[in-house]
Amino acid sequence: MSVQLSVGSTASLPAACLRPWQLDDVDALVSAHRDPALRRWLTSVISSELDARRWIDSQRQGWAAGTRFSFAILEGGGEGFGAAIGHVTVKLGDEGSAEVGYWTAAEVRGRGLASRALETVVQWVFGKESPVAPVRLGLFHAVGNHASCRVAERCGFELEALLPAQPPAFPTEGHLHVRHKPTLH
Ligand SMILES: CC(C)(COP(=O)(O)OP(=O)(O)OC[C@H]1O[C@@H](n2cnc3c(N)ncnc32)[C@H](O)[C@@H]1OP(=O)(O)O)[C@@H](O)C(=O)NCCC(=O)NCCS
Repeated sequence: MSVQLSVGSTASLPAACLRPWQLDDVDALVSAHRDPALRRWLTSVISSELDARRWIDSQRQGWAAGTRFSFAILEGGGEGFGAAIGHVTVKLGDEGSAEVGYWTAAEVRGRGLASRALETVVQWVFGKESPVAPVRLGLFHAVGNHASCRVAERCGFELEALLPAQPPAFPTEGHLHVRHKPTLH
């Protein structure tokens, strides 16, 4: 399945595009994962080209199985695209639920990219072109991850619960934010 989504430019943010991860993204993926913040807050750490290839392969399997829809965020618009600078994923769960996740490369943070890319993917997954029909999207982050909490708030994910720590994967308490598909009247 080939999906390409666009993120329009703003005064502080050039246009971007979202498409499924490809093996050409290996170098950008390894480079982004050198950032300490990314390594601190993500559960899957990529440290080598081999890790990156395996990770991309598992994202591609998710698309093929219809269970996980992961997008690379690329710089650029109609005149061509640059390297991958971020990631948004939607992972299907049970009974009409799904979970979103995201990261952006350290050098492009603070310009609204994660919020705008996440919103674009939410519109897609709740829209007519989506291959699935979740009605409830969950978003988890560690309590100390304030930037991620802001992205959740900016995208209309309401804080639903404070989750207990579950070491070793989740050593601190977390927030569960939720956004529901709007109902048509
Ligand atoms: C969380 C993350 C995706 C945000 O990416 P981004 O492109 O900078 O996001 P945006 O620019 O859309 O929004 C960032 C918001 O966080 C705020 N922010 C950034 N760093 C912050 C900090 N240390 N404390 C509090 N708020 C912070 C920004 O001010 C902005 O909020 P505002 O619009 O109210 O000013 C990025 O920091 C990242 O990749 N972190 C590492 C991986 C990660 O934590 N992923 C999420 C796992 S749940």
